[in-house]
Amino acid sequence: MCGIVGYIGTRDAFPIIIKGLKRLEYRGYDSAGIALLNGDMTVFKKAGKVSELEKIVIPGETIANIGIGHTRWATHGEPNDRNAHPHLSQSGNLAIIHNGIIENYSSIKEELSKRGYVFHSDTDTEVLVNLIEEVQKTEKTTLDNAVRIALNEVVGAYAIVVLNKNNPDQLVAARKGSPMVIGIGEDDFFIASDASPIIEYTKNVVYLDDQEYAVINRNGTYSIRTLGNVEKSHAIQKLEFSLEAIEKGGFEHFMLKEIYEQPKAIEDALRGRMNASQGWIKLGGLNEFINRIDNAGRFIVTACGTSWHSGLIGEYLIEDLARVPVEVEYASEFRYRNPIINEKDVVIAISQSGETADTLAAIELAKERQALVYGICNVIGSSIARTSHAGSYTHAGPEIGVASTKAFSTQISLLTLIALQLAQVKGTIATSKLREILYELENIPRKIEETLLLDAQIKEIAAIYKDATNFLYLGRGYNFPVALEGALKLKEISYIHAEGYPAAEMKHGPIALIDENMPVVFLATNQSAYEKIVSNVQEVKARKGKIIAVIHKSDTQIRELADHIIEVPETEEILSPLITIVPLQLLAYHIAILRGCNVDQPRNLAKSVTVE
Ligand code: AGP
Ligand code: GLU
Repeated sequence: MCGIVGYIGTRDAFPIIIKGLKRLEYRGYDSAGIALLNGDMTVFKKAGKVSELEKIVIPGETIANIGIGHTRWATHGEPNDRNAHPHLSQSGNLAIIHNGIIENYSSIKEELSKRGYVFHSDTDTEVLVNLIEEVQKTEKTTLDNAVRIALNEVVGAYAIVVLNKNNPDQLVAARKGSPMVIGIGEDDFFIASDASPIIEYTKNVVYLDDQEYAVINRNGTYSIRTLGNVEKSHAIQKLEFSLEAIEKGGFEHFMLKEIYEQPKAIEDALRGRMNASQGWIKLGGLNEFINRIDNAGRFIVTACGTSWHSGLIGEYLIEDLARVPVEVEYASEFRYRNPIINEKDVVIAISQSGETADTLAAIELAKERQALVYGICNVIGSSIARTSHAGSYTHAGPEIGVASTKAFSTQISLLTLIALQLAQVKGTIATSKLREILYELENIPRKIEETLLLDAQIKEIAAIYKDATNFLYLGRGYNFPVALEGALKLKEISYIHAEGYPAAEMKHGPIALIDENMPVVFLATNQSAYEKIVSNVQEVKARKGKIIAVIHKSDTQIRELADHIIEVPETEEILSPLITIVPLQLLAYHIAILRGCNVDQPRNLAKSVTVE
């Protein structure tokens, strides 16, 4: 989950690493640390943000052109100074930064303790660096070989970089289940857990595959081997995004920028994949396996968090339009519950980061059982994108805010195309209807722009309810997953407890919570079942709940009942989540800001969850 940066070359390593850590801070921000080699091993580490680390650094002691840095998302041990990375080996010769978990750390720790090792932190990471040192000593071998041997002994997921005081001309990096990319500069190398710290120095990168390690030398050479010791060679790839895409561009926060980027992100997601006037849809990844997909007995969507919510919308879309059964599974449950799955199933794995550990494990299970795996990812070259049989990128551009926004709307856009293409192939949709929906899909970016104009009004509503302790979000049909997503957004960034519920299900429990202090957000743009949702609004009103209703301009009844209305442009019902989510993102954003929360880096969260 954390951020990793390494540098070796001719430039001053410290500013490169610090800047890189700031770019990676969205991945974890419990503590930060840096180790530099300049004859001696110099380590600075501090609980809190990278800015806290900068405060304790002694300026004269940062001169070096090799070093490693880390922003932590604690799994083992409190986020304090002591547990911050890098961790040193017993002799002080090795420094390690680590992303992930060493599951069998306690038995290794016990063994190493018996051999006289003393531990200064509560982390699994410190155990690993000492294991590497112990292997180095007992096997009398090079660092890279010791890393390989040690990693064959550990169970878990990791990305690591090791710095060796006795060899200032080399870095050793390895990965299993956590991403790692090597940037290849003119006469230097950059290592990072994603490309954002690298992009301003070079566009040439090599992605390490799972269970591989790399030895990176100051003389401009590098080599990659598997943990089984087989030499590998990877093609150099070109990074496609620009530096601008990972900066705030005048917005106060990444989240706000990303909310506002949704019209463009959706246009990019749809570009070249559909044409309304000619009535075609062409999802490259889908075409390649069209026979298998067309004959699928069932689709299983697997994902986590926001991506799971878009998967739920995918279920409604595919069943509604293409009449094929769909199941939506939390990846973390799916992977452990021995699901029935076979070669006639198509598994759609959805992930912004493409690195979510649970989703990756669910994919492995699906592959073992011969299902076809179709990945929908945002991060190009990510593990899920590479391990899926087929797939499509959402092309939303880098999403830095921890709370997912534009990734969600582009995922839904792709799921809509998948459902429509399937419906077309299966003949379950009339050509005229298909065109109508495609035309409307093309209009969605403009309608989101219109919705974004409601920002100031939504801010006023946010100011009224910013001190609420609970929120309920209710919706029916396509708006039910939007209710879940709206509640998740609020929880994540404002720390207000919020629940999303199917509006009609409310009377089976949550209605007990409603009193004059409970704000209830209704997603009430449904054309079908409109009268039903009016009744649900009545039920809340009768119990004095405060009603914030997202409605269409043409609404007649709910506007009379609600305390606050948010009027959004009308669209096809199946596309409505693309519009109705926008006011909920803005509401969560403004409430969080008014409560003084850090919206881009909410407490306890990390952007990509690479541990189970
Ligand atoms: C979204 O706002 C969350 N931060 C989180 O639920 C996220 O969607 C989830 O961790 C899945 O991530 P992924 O899409 O990168 O797999
Ligand atoms: N397990 C390690 C720790 O708790 C690494 C966590 C991380 O990925 O930041 O320190």
